[in-house]
Amino acid sequence: MTVQLAREAPGHAPAIRELLLQAFPTALEADLVERLRHDGDVAIGLVAMEEDAVIGYAVFSPMAAPMKALGLGPVAVRPECQHRGIGGMLIRNGVQRAREAGWDAVFVLGAAAYYSRFGFDPAQASGFDSPYAGPHFMALPLKGDIMQSRSGRVDYAAAFRALE
Ligand SMILES: CC(C)(COP(=O)(O)OP(=O)(O)OC[C@H]1O[C@@H](n2cnc3c(N)ncnc32)[C@H](O)[C@@H]1OP(=O)(O)O)[C@@H](O)C(=O)NCCC(=O)NCCS
Repeated sequence: MTVQLAREAPGHAPAIRELLLQAFPTALEADLVERLRHDGDVAIGLVAMEEDAVIGYAVFSPMAAPMKALGLGPVAVRPECQHRGIGGMLIRNGVQRAREAGWDAVFVLGAAAYYSRFGFDPAQASGFDSPYAGPHFMALPLKGDIMQSRSGRVDYAAAFRALE
């Protein structure tokens, strides 16, 4: 079966919520995505579709940062559809869209063992001041010298404050 990626549409919202509830242990991420949408903070929201079902989701939201930066997350794939490369497809496609739209960088908080394969690097995020600073906080520059100064404060969109 072919997996297709698309921008999320309003009609996908209930299926995205159901997917997030399945992929994460609590409703925190499902609520977070609804708050991002409510706040107009979904810069790039992507669904992975198989037949007519939403089987994966990734969202990128604008950050308050010294450069034009997006925060990636949550990313989720329906448990029975994991390990087929769908998470990777969503992340690579979203990063490509971010690059084409002129964003400078993408930050993510997560497992370096997973996100490093997409070019995310804790060293690129290490100079920035953030509540998430540490080995799991990574950045992917989308433009040559954008991270040169590597300092300043980076904050996720307001919806993330509920998670801090
Ligand atoms: C993380 C997630 C989106 C990956 O989706 P996926 O479609 O399975 O991803 P891919 O097929 O592209 O890659 C799978 C590989 O990622 C790696 N991987 C996945 N989660 C990982 C983690 N937490 N730490 C390290 N590596 C991880 C593994 O190497 C895995 O390889 P395997 O298939 O040989 O086991 C999916 O596992 C998921 O929805 N998890 C629950 C929600 C979550 O934790 N999201 C991430 C934080 S926002």
